[in-house]
Formats: sequence, C-alpha cells, structure tokens
Amino acid sequence: MEDLILTGPVVASAMEVLEKEFRVHKLWEIQNTGAFLKDHKATRLMACFGVLPVNAALMDALPVLEMISVFGVGVDMVDLDAARARGVRVTNTPDVLNDAVAEMTLALMLATCRRIVDADAFVRAGNWSDAPYPLTGELTGAKVGILGLGRIGKEIALRCQAFRMQVAYHGRHEQPFVPYPYYNDLVAMAVDVDWLIGVVPGDTGTKGLVSRDVLAALGPKGSFVNIGRGSLVDEGAMLELLKNGGLGAAGLDVFASEPDLSPAFSDLPNVVLSPHQGSATQKTRWAMGDLFVRNLLAHCQGAPLISPVI
Ligand code: NAP
Ligand code: 8YV
Repeated sequence: MEDLILTGPVVASAMEVLEKEFRVHKLWEIQNTGAFLKDHKATRLMACFGVLPVNAALMDALPVLEMISVFGVGVDMVDLDAARARGVRVTNTPDVLNDAVAEMTLALMLATCRRIVDADAFVRAGNWSDAPYPLTGELTGAKVGILGLGRIGKEIALRCQAFRMQVAYHGRHEQPFVPYPYYNDLVAMAVDVDWLIGVVPGDTGTKGLVSRDVLAALGPKGSFVNIGRGSLVDEGAMLELLKNGGLGAAGLDVFASEPDLSPAFSDLPNVVLSPHQGSATQKTRWAMGDLFVRNLLAHCQGAPLISPVI
C-alpha cells in the first residue's frame, strides 16, 4: 500500500476511501514531525485539509513528492511556487461547493440586515412582551458589489438578483457576456454600493485588498460580507470602523487568524460571525471529498487529474 500524508481530518466518506486505498499518516496527530518526515521521505502523495501550511520546507523534506490533493477550492495553504519549482502537481475541489457557499453568503446577508441572531436572543430573553423589536434594513432593492465574480461570485450574483438587488462587480479583468456593471476601481465600487461581498482567493495578490479606504467608502450605512479569506481584509481597520460607526455592519465566515479570533469581535453588536462554514453541508462536503479522492486515485493510475491547479 502507498503512503499518504494527510494534514487535517477530512469528512468520514473520504476518510473511508483513503484508509482503504492508502496507508494514511495523520500529520496533525504526529508529535515529532521532523523524525516522522525523515522516516517517510519516500512519500509521493499528500492530501490537505485546513490551514496547516504546505511550504517549501515541508516539500524539501519529501524529495519525491509528486502530488498534493487539496480538500477545498482555495489552495492558499500550499506554496504553489515551491510546488511548481519541484514539479509537484496540485489539485483542488472547485464548483461542487459553489451552491453551498453562495447560500451561506445570502444567509449572512439576511442575518446581518434582518438582525436574525439578535432578534432570536431578544425573543429567548422574554423581551418581546415589553416592546417590539426595532425595525431593520432589507435586501430588496439594495446595491451589492461582488469582489471576485468567479465560480462562487456568479452564484452569489444570481441569488442577489432573486432578491431584486442591483449587482456590480470588481476583479482584475472585465468579463465578457456578464450582465453586471464592472468597476475597475474597488473604492469607486464601495462608494456606490450598500453591500460589499469578498469572494476572491487568499493569495498574495489579494492580501489587504479590502483596505481601510474601501471600508470607509462603504461607510456607516454599508455592510461587508467576507466569505473568501480573512487575509483579504484589513481586519484591524474593519474592527475599528465597525466599533466607531465608520462601517455599518459585517457578516463574516472567515478571519485572519482563525480559529483564534480577536476578542474584539465578540463585543460588536453589528457583526454576525460564522466559523468558516461556507461549504460545510453534508451534501457538499461529501461531493468535495469525492472529488478530492478521485484526484488522488487518478494520479496513482496515471490518468489525467480531474481538477488540477498546477
Ligand atoms: P474563482 O472562480 O477563481 O474566482 C475568483 C475571482 O476572484 C475571479 O473572478 C477573479 O477575477 C477574482 N480575483 C482574483 N484575484 C484578484 C485580485 N487580486 N483582485 C481582484 N479580483 C481578483 O474562485 P472561486 O471558486 O469562486 O473561489 C473563490 C474563493 O472563495 C476561494 O479561493 C476561497 O478562498 C474562497 N472560499 C471560501 C469558502 C468558505 O467556506 N468560506 C468556500 C469556498 C471558497 P479576475 O481574474 O478578473 O481578477
Ligand atoms: C473548506 C474553503 O472549508 O474550499 C475552500 O476554499 O474555504 C472551504 O470549502 C476548506 O478548504 C477546508 O480546508
């Protein structure tokens, strides 16, 4: 049986196949990683879940590494330049998660503007008989700017249209045959919209893209939803503006240092927090696990990779 190094616990359906097909080494459970890697330097296959970095040093410890299968569409935990330089192939799990992630985005938008979490606490605390719950905003007719109109961004746009919102987008390129207005300047888009949705990858090119200027342009009546990666926003500036009213509200699924969040988040009444749950439905995690495993098996059989990144 072939060795496989796994960096985090994947869904049970995928784990079952991995354990049937490979000798699985659970890196997150190994105490002495250095000694383990020395003993297993002939490993050809690696599989990733979560944020544990797969960097050049780790690849150097595995000199015959051929392939890294990532459970997820974002591959920011893998140093792609280092992989490319060593001829290591990398796969991910695109598309099968688009619906679940788009659904979570709308859930965060609804929860943020209709104040669903706070209203639930209000009812549970028995406050309803004392006074009605304060009036809230609504999505219908509002303007939404999507930062990253890719596979997931397009599904978010469709759902926003169903809510009769006006959709615009920003990316590095204007896309042909897309019915939404394009902004080549993110601050200009933020000035014009009520909602900004971050759904770009967490690579070096997007770090801090949602800057203090962008958030300030969104303004006291604006809301930011981050479903992409924590790294794409200046988190310090966001916390400050949420606190002093410079930014209206936020719905957040991803954070700079997850799962350990800044304690400042817990004191803010105008944020809805979600523990990186975008793709975390049973149906979608099964589909991601299936694609993640099929990429590994394809490599082992010498067949073309199903969803290669490099
Ligand atoms: P995708 O199809 O590759 O779309 C990414 C979009 O981002 C593209 O439209 C691209 O447009 C834009 N973009 C990339 N770099 C940019 C930059 N520097 N500035 C502005 N725009 C940029 O990716 P996807 O499948 O939709 O996934 C997007 C990301 O969502 C993932 O990488 C992951 O980080 C995140 N995600 C999160 C969850 C969750 O559970 N919260 C789940 C799945 C995915 P241009 O090329 O025109 O710039
Ligand atoms: C996963 C994600 O939860 O696909 C992504 O990029 O962020 C999520 O679907 C994550 O990749 C698990 O490692």
